[in-house]
Amino acid sequence: MKFFVDTADVKEIRELADTGLLDGVTTNPTLIAKSGRDFIEVITEIAGVVPGPVSAEVAATDFEGMVKEGERLALIADNIAIKVPLTWDGLKACKHFTSKNIMVNVTLCFSAAQAILAAKAGATFISPFVGRLDDVGQPGMQLISEICTIYNHYEYFNTEVLVASVRSPMHVVEAAMIGAHVATIPPSVLKQLASHPLTDKGLATFLSDWQKTGQKIG
Ligand code: E4P
Repeated sequence: MKFFVDTADVKEIRELADTGLLDGVTTNPTLIAKSGRDFIEVITEIAGVVPGPVSAEVAATDFEGMVKEGERLALIADNIAIKVPLTWDGLKACKHFTSKNIMVNVTLCFSAAQAILAAKAGATFISPFVGRLDDVGQPGMQLISEICTIYNHYEYFNTEVLVASVRSPMHVVEAAMIGAHVATIPPSVLKQLASHPLTDKGLATFLSDWQKTGQKIG
C-alpha cells in the first residue's frame, strides 16, 4: 500500500520524506490556503522533495479553464498529478490529460458510480473521501470496498483507489484490508500509525534492564 501525505506544509513533508516511507503528496485549495504560501511556489517545492506523485488541484470549473490551469501545473515537474473535481468537465479534462500521459487525480468522489466514470476517463487516481462520508452517516469504507470490487472486475481499469479524507489509523488499516492502492493521510494520523502504548512500555522495560547489565554495544 502506498502512503501519500495530505498537506501543503513543506516542513512536515520533508520530515516524513526522511523516513523513506512516503510515496507521494496530495494538496487541495484548503491546504494551500492554510499554508499561507503561493500555490505554484509551494507545489514546486513539494515536487522537489518527494519523487512520487504530487497532486495539485485546478480552481477552474469549466473544461477549458481546467485544461489551461492543468497545463500550467503540469509544467512544474513530471511528478505532478493534476487534481480535477468529479464533474463532467472534470472527467473531460481527466481524459484530456491522461491521453497526454499526464497523471490525474479525480477528487471529491462520493459514490461507486462516480468512480466508474473516473476509471473510464483513464484517471490515474480516484479519491473517495471516507471521513466526509462518515461525517454524514454514510459508511466511507463501504464505498472503498465497492470501488475496489468493481475495479477488480475489469483489468483494463488502471485507476488506483486513493483513500482520502482519512481521519484515523483505523481508516488506514481498513483500507489496507480491503486492498486499496493508496491512502492519503494527514501528518498527525501518519505519526499515530507507529504508536502503541505497549511498544512504549516494552521499550522502557528493555532499556532499564539493559542499563542493569552495565554493557555497551560496539
Ligand atoms: C484529498 O486529496 C483531500 O485533500 C483530503 O483527503 C480531504 O480531507 P478532509 O475531508 O479531511 O478535508
